[in-house]
Amino acid sequence: MTLRLPGLVAVHTHMRAPGQTHKEDWSTGTAAALAGGFTTVLAMPNTSPPLTDARLLDDTLAAAGRGARCDYGQYAAATDDNAGTVAALAPRTVGLKMYLNATFGDLRLADRGTWVRHLESWPFDRPVAVHAEGATLAAVLPMAASLQRSIHVCHLSREDEIVLVRDARQRGEAVTCEVTPHHLFLDEADASQLGGLGEVRPRLASPADRDALWRNLDVIDCFATDHAPHTVGEKSSEPAPPGFPGLETALPLLLGAVDDGRLTVEDIVTRFHDNPRRIFGLPAQDAEVEVDPDAIWTFDGSAQETRAGWSPFHGRRMRGRVSRVTLRGREVFRDGEVLAVPGSGRDVRARET
Ligand code: DOR
Ligand code: ZN
Ligand code: ZN
Repeated sequence: MTLRLPGLVAVHTHMRAPGQTHKEDWSTGTAAALAGGFTTVLAMPNTSPPLTDARLLDDTLAAAGRGARCDYGQYAAATDDNAGTVAALAPRTVGLKMYLNATFGDLRLADRGTWVRHLESWPFDRPVAVHAEGATLAAVLPMAASLQRSIHVCHLSREDEIVLVRDARQRGEAVTCEVTPHHLFLDEADASQLGGLGEVRPRLASPADRDALWRNLDVIDCFATDHAPHTVGEKSSEPAPPGFPGLETALPLLLGAVDDGRLTVEDIVTRFHDNPRRIFGLPAQDAEVEVDPDAIWTFDGSAQETRAGWSPFHGRRMRGRVSRVTLRGREVFRDGEVLAVPGSGRDVRARET
């Protein structure tokens, strides 16, 4: 049997260009996307240097144009000193990213006055995505609400966070959110087994937190890989940088949950296609993903398209596999082989520039 899905959207990825292309670049990152059933990637701005101004955006979009094998969009980064200028990048980006907790990179906004300035200045019809955990999330939601602006919460991982989002929505606030497969399928016990490889932000949480995410799937708008590649060498160093590659495991993991009766295929399409397109205002795309839902296989983290070369799901039995992907009528992936060439992807915001 073959299951046909629309081309999926990876709303939260780290392509690592510029600056850290030994971890990933546009060519390898988008190859990983296609192998995982994604035909659009939205790239986070915690690059090196971080994407904070027009010149860096020009350079990054030029590199993406040369390297990407699927369609792409880029986020801009909020900093303490660019609240007056970054909004000019809105038409050419997919959103503003605000890092409100410490994570990989140096973009944490410590000053709450800065949070408000960015929430006020970024165009209200364009997404603001926040990395905000626990108490930080509790602090930023009322700020967005009092400005009556929408906000997209990245990678919810805990019960208290999903309760905050659920309650905000019940009050009519314009909050959307995403959850990663690693927070749905792993917990703190896996983190201690994995050692440095298990480092990720937000951290893997308790089984109760993980179960709360599953119980509240109705609140979750998007699944998001948070594909954050680091090499095995880096993950074995002290301190290990946080982040997991995720593009090549997300769909098989979720198809396994369909087989377990915990999810429907429709739940996947809603959260990996329909809602991402709506929240980020993405143009229609002619793309299809063919999946063999009954293929049983063992995932090999060292045999991926991503440069990371490892996975927290290495050795896992998967049920469901991507067999073929088409984009604009062309075969871009078939039976384990990426066929799209670098430079064939399009900027999702190109029509507006
Ligand atoms: O684990 C993470 N890795 N969390 C983040 O917020 C950033 C990411 C990265 O860029 O490596
Ligand atoms: Zn994050
Ligand atoms: Zn991330």
